Amino acid sequence: MAAQFRPRILAMQFLAAIAFISGITRSGASDPPLTLDYYASSCPSVLKIIREEMEREMLLDPRNAALVLRLHFHDCFVQGCDGSVLLDDIFTLRGEKTASPNINSLKGFEIIDRIKSRVEFGCPGIVSCADILTIAARDAVLLVGGPYWDVPLGRKDSRSASYELANTIPTPNEGLIPIIYKFLSLGLSVTDTVALSGAHTIGMARCEYFRARIYGDYELTSGGSPSSEVRLSQLKSTCPAAGGGDNNIAPFDYETPYTFDNSYYHLLLNGEGLLDSDQELYSSLLALQTRKLVEQYALDPAAFFQQFSISMVKMGNLTNPDSFVDGEVRKCCRFVNA
Ligand code: HEM
Ligand SMILES: *[C@@H]1O[C@H](CO)[C@@H](O)[C@H](O)[C@H]1NC(C)=O
Repeated sequence: MAAQFRPRILAMQFLAAIAFISGITRSGASDPPLTLDYYASSCPSVLKIIREEMEREMLLDPRNAALVLRLHFHDCFVQGCDGSVLLDDIFTLRGEKTASPNINSLKGFEIIDRIKSRVEFGCPGIVSCADILTIAARDAVLLVGGPYWDVPLGRKDSRSASYELANTIPTPNEGLIPIIYKFLSLGLSVTDTVALSGAHTIGMARCEYFRARIYGDYELTSGGSPSSEVRLSQLKSTCPAAGGGDNNIAPFDYETPYTFDNSYYHLLLNGEGLLDSDQELYSSLLALQTRKLVEQYALDPAAFFQQFSISMVKMGNLTNPDSFVDGEVRKCCRFVNA
C-alpha cells in the first residue's frame, strides 16, 4: 500500500498542511473575537436598518445583490474582512480599487455609502464598515432567494489597504490549482472554494473575462448541443473575437440571473460555465474533489445552501489582527478617520 501513494494526493495534503500552519500563525491560534450580539445594546436596530436599505437597493437594481456580495469577497481576501476594499485612493494612501482584479470591475461602493450614512444617523460611530458590508452581503443573498445565516460581528475597519495583495485576488485564467491554493492559504478549504464559487449564480461578467473561454474550449465542454450553441452564439455577439466590446456584459447564469439558486452547478454539468475558472471546477483534468462537489450541489440544493452559509461565515471570519490593535470604526467608509 505504502508504495501506492499518489503524488497528486500528497500534493493536496501538503497544500492543506501549509494552509493549516499558516492559519494558526496568522490567527494566533484563536478564533476572531466576533459575536452574534455585538451590537445588541449599542445599536439594536442595525440589522433592521441594513435589511431595509438592501431591500431598497434591490428595487433600484436587482444586480445590486451581486455587487455587494462580490465586494465582501474582495474585502475579505485582502487583509481579512476589514473594509480595506472600500478605501479611496488619496495622496497618502494607495487603495485597492485600482488593483487589476478590481479596476473597472468592482462596483457597488455607493450602496455601502448609502447604508453607512443611515446607520451613522441611527448609531453614530458604532458600526464598522467591515461589519456593514458583511451583513449587507448576507442580506443580498437572502433577498434574491438564497439561504439565511447569522453573521458574527465586531470587526474593526483597517487604517490601511493593500494594493499588492489585491492584485493577488484570483482571476479566471490562472487555473484551478493556483486558485484552490489561494483559498487554502487563507484557511478556506476545497469545499469552501467550490461552495463560494456558487456566488456566480447571480451577477454579470464582462467580455474581457470570458472572451478566451467562448472562443476557446466552450464548445468542447458544452458538447455542441443545440441549446448551448444558441447560448454560445449569443455570447459571441456580445463579445466579438477581434476585440472591442470588452465592457459588454453577460450573466453568469443566463436562465435565472437574479435568483440565488444552485443552477450555477447545473451550468457546469452542461459545460456552460462562463469563466474558465468556473468550468474548471468540473472539467479540469485535475478536478477530482471539486467535480464531486459540483455534482453534489447540482443534485442537492439544500446541501449547497447549507455549505454556502458555513463557507460565508468562515470567509467572514477572516479578520485582520492588526485592525483589532489599531483599527477603528470609520465615519465614512471611503476614508480612515482623521
Ligand atoms: C474562485 C475564484 C473566483 C474568480 C476567478 C472570480 C472571478 C470573477 C470575475 C472575473 C467576475 C466578473 C468581473 C467583471 O466582469 O468585471 C466576477 C464576478 C462576480 N463574482 Fe467572482 N470570482 C471568484 C470567486 C467569487 C466568490 C468567492 C464570490 C463571492 C462569494 C464571487 C462573487 C462574484 C459576484 C457576485 C460577481 C458578479 C458581480 C457583478 O454582477 O458585477 N466570486 N468574479
Ligand atoms: C466564526 O467565528 C465565530 C466567532 O469567533 C465562531 O463562533 C464560529 O465557529 C466561526 N465559524 C466558522 C465557520 O468558522
